Amino acid sequence: MADRKNPLRDGARLKRTPQASTVVIFGATGDLTKRKLVPSLYSLHVEGLLPQDFKIIAFARRDKNDEIFRNDMREALQQHAGDIGNSTRMNQFLSLIHYHRGDFNQTEPYVELARSLEKLKSERGITGNRLFYLATPPSTYDAIIENLGAAKLNKSTSGWTRIIIEKPFGRDLRTAIELNNVVERVFAEDQIYRIDHYLGKETVQNILVFRFANGIFEPIWNRRYIDHVQITVAETLGVEGRGNFYEETGITRDIVQNHALQLFCLFAMEPPAAIDSSAVRNEKVKVLQAVKQFRERDVDDMVVRGQYAAGSLMGRRLPSYKEEEGVAPDSATETYFAAKFFIDNWRWADVPIYIRTGKRLPKRVTEIAIYFKNAPLQMFSEKARSQVGSNVLALRIQPDEGISLRFDSKVPGPSSFIRPVTMDFRYGTSFGQTPPDAYERLLLDALLGDSTLFTRSDENQMAWRLLDPLFKRWEQLGKIELPQYQIGTWGPAQADGLLRNDQREWRRL
Ligand SMILES: NC(=O)c1ccc[n+]([C@@H]2O[C@H](COP(=O)([O-])OP(=O)(O)OC[C@H]3O[C@@H](n4cnc5c(N)ncnc54)[C@H](OP(=O)(O)O)[C@@H]3O)[C@@H](O)[C@H]2O)c1
Repeated sequence: MADRKNPLRDGARLKRTPQASTVVIFGATGDLTKRKLVPSLYSLHVEGLLPQDFKIIAFARRDKNDEIFRNDMREALQQHAGDIGNSTRMNQFLSLIHYHRGDFNQTEPYVELARSLEKLKSERGITGNRLFYLATPPSTYDAIIENLGAAKLNKSTSGWTRIIIEKPFGRDLRTAIELNNVVERVFAEDQIYRIDHYLGKETVQNILVFRFANGIFEPIWNRRYIDHVQITVAETLGVEGRGNFYEETGITRDIVQNHALQLFCLFAMEPPAAIDSSAVRNEKVKVLQAVKQFRERDVDDMVVRGQYAAGSLMGRRLPSYKEEEGVAPDSATETYFAAKFFIDNWRWADVPIYIRTGKRLPKRVTEIAIYFKNAPLQMFSEKARSQVGSNVLALRIQPDEGISLRFDSKVPGPSSFIRPVTMDFRYGTSFGQTPPDAYERLLLDALLGDSTLFTRSDENQMAWRLLDPLFKRWEQLGKIELPQYQIGTWGPAQADGLLRNDQREWRRL
């Protein structure tokens, strides 16, 4: 890691180095802290991107002390930090972490936390800058936020205070508004960082660069040239022992409301007045405002739900969703979603944007595929074309990050056969470096006070508003048997039907 060329280092130079600060992680014994947050903070430390005076306070319920917790984090780093630097570096980093035991629902731990933060300030000269990170179950958000307010930890007398809140932010429009009211009673909007880690991915940020740093795409980025768009977020994983959580969530809340709709907005938004948090987020909100609302009766025609049935993936026999631990035998929770959206504005009127996402699909892949309209006049005979293909521009978010363009080309030789070929850009090959983890970028931005890559409350609520009619319709339908798809296939037959009805088909990945 020490030798890795990290683009964030240049980015931070372009911006500023974060000021002396303390990060308090709520839920520090959890999975997210171990797999993502601590490895990302360590990576920033190794890269020299953290301030000189920096501390991490790890807040959780289990009985541990600094030494035990640091040892746990050493193991976590060995497992999840990739190239782990040398042991001096690691010890140096681990010494920055302090364990703080407490129950989120009690007030005393927050009084003690306030005392510890004051102590750090007076003894070690660390300023009052604080970043609270809620890496906890959503059911605990209200209590933590209210207790932080009661302990007057929502404002610092000598510096800034910010709060990062993990997804999901609400489970429908009503609960998102309620949660927002709780947060905004204690923190101001400019202190709140709602995280969607997709926005921290280099390839997601590159959508803006691709569209707005180049002049050649803007003239064709509209309904005159684009036939339709397919956004795919496919996973090979199942629920990974988190059946209880998934039963309450389903893929629409877990992926569509946040990751998929973020990709949708970045693809469809108008050029912002500037690349800053307010201009970019204003444009994303405008896209969501223009999306045609589903009427309840449209839901059955334009949205497909599915659930995985037992099957094989990469040579492994795997159980169905209903056989997973914590899942009800008559569950109607969707593990697959496909839908057709329209944006009612001048740029996109009548251009369908299809989103599909699912678990236990054949491949892990996220991409936006833009299908262009055919040439106005077909001058080459059908016989000359071995395959009929549209021009497709694919923005590959993960894995194999890159961009490809498919177009027709003449097959070499005396005949005039035509076949589609692909022009390919790959991040790895062109830049010779692995993109940093999304959490690295987002933690650094939050420390720097840049909220461009975080979700604003109106954006979050517009996304829920769009999906609410689906939830209402599904509630009316109750516990019906959802269309099944075999593990390792691309979803239920009904999803193919959705495109076939429009004389189209899903891109083969
Ligand atoms: N894991 C991921 O990859 C991932 C990805 C994206 C988003 N998220 C989001 O991140 C959040 C955390 O996920 P996670 O997977 O890390 O959860 P997790 O493994 O279940 O961890 C929950 C943490 O919260 C603590 N906790 C729960 N109730 C508490 C209480 N009353 N008092 C004190 N501590 C309490 C637990 O402490 P004890 O263990 O000490 O009880 C533990 O540290 C969730 O909102 C999730 O949706 C997670």
